Amino acid sequence: FNVPKPQNEPVLNYGPGSAERASLQAALQQARSYIADIPMYIGADEVRTGKTGEVRPPHDHKHLLAKFHEGDATHVTAAINAALAAKAGWEDLAWEQRAAIFLKAAELIAGPYRDKINAATMLGQSKNVYQAEIDSACELIDFLRFNVHYMTEIYQQQPPISPKGIWNRVEQRPLEGFVFALTPFNFTAIAGNLPASAAMMGNVVVWKPAYTQIYAANVIMQVLREAGLPSGVINLIYVDGPVAGDVIFSHHDFAGIHFTGSTGVFQNIWKTIGNNIHQYKTYPRIVGETGGKDFVLAHSSADAEVVSTALLRGAFEYQGQKCSAASRAYIPFSLWPAVKANMQRDLASFKMGPVEDFSNFINAVISEASFDKLANYIDTARQDSNVELVAGGGYDKSTGWFIEPTVLRVNDPYYTTMCEELFGPVLSVYVYKDEKFDEVLDIVDKTSVYALTGSIIAQDRYIIARATQYLRNAAGNFYINDKPTGAVVGQQPFGGARGSGTNDKAGSMINLLRWVSPRTIKETF
Ligand code: NAD
Ligand code: ALA
Repeated sequence: FNVPKPQNEPVLNYGPGSAERASLQAALQQARSYIADIPMYIGADEVRTGKTGEVRPPHDHKHLLAKFHEGDATHVTAAINAALAAKAGWEDLAWEQRAAIFLKAAELIAGPYRDKINAATMLGQSKNVYQAEIDSACELIDFLRFNVHYMTEIYQQQPPISPKGIWNRVEQRPLEGFVFALTPFNFTAIAGNLPASAAMMGNVVVWKPAYTQIYAANVIMQVLREAGLPSGVINLIYVDGPVAGDVIFSHHDFAGIHFTGSTGVFQNIWKTIGNNIHQYKTYPRIVGETGGKDFVLAHSSADAEVVSTALLRGAFEYQGQKCSAASRAYIPFSLWPAVKANMQRDLASFKMGPVEDFSNFINAVISEASFDKLANYIDTARQDSNVELVAGGGYDKSTGWFIEPTVLRVNDPYYTTMCEELFGPVLSVYVYKDEKFDEVLDIVDKTSVYALTGSIIAQDRYIIARATQYLRNAAGNFYINDKPTGAVVGQQPFGGARGSGTNDKAGSMINLLRWVSPRTIKETF
């Protein structure tokens, strides 16, 4: 039995006048025409507590899109109990039957749910049509299909050798207990993949999304249920993070966490798990993809147009709110005038506004807290005589959380905006003397406290080889002559080390192997 190796889901174009554009616009209109009522999903139940939170489009914060029912510690316990009750039935199901459910979910997203999930991501997370299509449609579909393919490889691995009279084999068991999936706001695909990949391998899951991603998480849950996922296998709850953490990380049956989010939150979770280690039945699996401060390093042999395109797309797509976003750049003096002019030229044509107008390249940042933090960084930089405002710098929160794409040129490669994760459309550039490339290489490595993504842009083959080798620990995904964003499932397995995570490569066999606990069996005849 073999699942054929999948192809990447083709990205639809949504060009003016196309049928797919008309259909998506209808879905957006429909979603805006009523206030959705979003329950938690615990076991077979849709749970409505009556204590509701609000979902508003970040680009249109006066519009109420949905209300979601918020839970407390009792709902976390109920979700754990529902998961544990579903465990025996789920892990006894033949893996092919589990695989079929996730393949069916991929088909539903590729077909009847495509508009709904894209519209939810566009409205709930303020992603433009292209960013939504590559995330909530293509990447999520790819995660499901490719992971099913990797899963078949795991279950059909060559057995160990067996001498005459003996049969050795390895059984891939699900973890003993439940898995906690804790997911971020910025990718619907990641939100879906974290619970799905653990569940695929026979585990039961309690899933808590970021409050700012609940609107699309609800659609994922509807898809999984329609695909035939048995009740209780994935339980979706909306509970304050620390409240959920208190119950989960002190539970005897806690078997692992599949996390994506910020470095600080993950480090605290790790400490809590360490402190509670004696309470668990087994050592929990700790898998985390965390923050980034991703770089673009250009060499004087680079083409200025390639550099500016990599910077603009890398730094400003989805308002710089990708963990992989280019947020610090190192440009040689000889290239800087052309790179600066190209960026200023292109930024003048970038439109900013709501996602419903498909010609807007820049939409809003996720929340008021994020807006205030970014505005504060921009104001501080503006007042600093060592920083030049190359482009942007404006912001406006009257209708939505809008921050202009901003480029700062700094004199100090250790300046705060060159080191801290800002998570927004702010790019800092350090311009270096061409002959100091080796020094800059060292600075890039030393300041890579995070190590998620990075790019070298050069035409000189020796320089490419040197940077690739010197920066081997500075990025888990390293790009040569390209932007540092946009990893595609099945093509560039994604993840970073150092402060960026456990590097268990989302959408890979490495990741799926974290969700099984192998048992070796020797039978003597
Ligand atoms: P976040 O850390 O604020 O939240 C992530 C999840 O943790 C959410 O569900 C949140 O509710 C929960 N949480 C927050 N505080 C908690 C606590 N004290 N206890 C328990 N749970 C808690 O992250 P975010 O703002 O949603 O996402 C952005 C961050 O995610 C950025 O740092 C970005 O770099 C990172 N990210 C990393 C990757 C990657 O692959 N490395 C991918 C996407 C996002
Ligand atoms: N897959 C996303 C990217 O590479 C995180 O940008």
